[in-house]
Amino acid sequence: MRRPVIAGNWKMYKTQAETRAYFAALAPLVAGSTHCDIVVAPPFTALAAAVEAAKGTSISIAAQNMHWETEGAFTGEISAGMLLEAGCRAVIIAHSERRQFFGETDERANKKVKAALAAGLTPLLCVGESLAEREGKKTEEVLERQFRGGVAALTSAEFSRIILAYEPVWAIGTGRTATPEMAAEAHQFLRQLAAAAFTPERADMLRILYGGSVKPDNIKGLMAQVEIDGALVGGASLKAEAFASIVNF
Ligand code: PGA
Repeated sequence: MRRPVIAGNWKMYKTQAETRAYFAALAPLVAGSTHCDIVVAPPFTALAAAVEAAKGTSISIAAQNMHWETEGAFTGEISAGMLLEAGCRAVIIAHSERRQFFGETDERANKKVKAALAAGLTPLLCVGESLAEREGKKTEEVLERQFRGGVAALTSAEFSRIILAYEPVWAIGTGRTATPEMAAEAHQFLRQLAAAAFTPERADMLRILYGGSVKPDNIKGLMAQVEIDGALVGGASLKAEAFASIVNF
């Protein structure tokens, strides 16, 4: 039985003051929500405020990106150890916006996954095809390349600690959600890849989240699919009430 995960990715939104107000609103709404893991990923500058505000709740805090080295002359970068010290438990890796706008590659994603695991963080590795790739019938090819690249050379024990997020790029921030069936099909394909790369048992335990225009009114249909183990929510995670109703699907 895979425990669901509902994760909110704030992207480049919210100041520290907004973060405190958000958690004050969210905490009581999810106080009884023991059926899933709840994760919120604020921008770096709001991490400490979020960690402080989430104390005493079951909400864990994640970062949206990291560098793979432990320290060094890498202006503007943050290491896994720094995130851990700030109170993060997880980190989003290779979000499609990082791939699209900031040159994230599968090779770098793999280094980040390894560094996150070594530091004790849970990597939330994102994969997903663009609209042109889907229309060009390249979805499986893209997912296979991103999955294999991202988890390359992980041991089976390391692999058991990652979370995968399937986020079709054409569904992110567009209001166009993949149908639950489309998402489930991609998840099933990713699970087959996991079984081939590791073991069927590991694949069976892998939690795969769907992301892309998840909203309070479509989460139920998505979660009804056995292949879908949770959601990575962007826009709808910015309002505490909307995120809480997704958590409480
Ligand atoms: P969205 O973003 O929910 O706003 O589509 C999802 C994501 O990018 O993680």
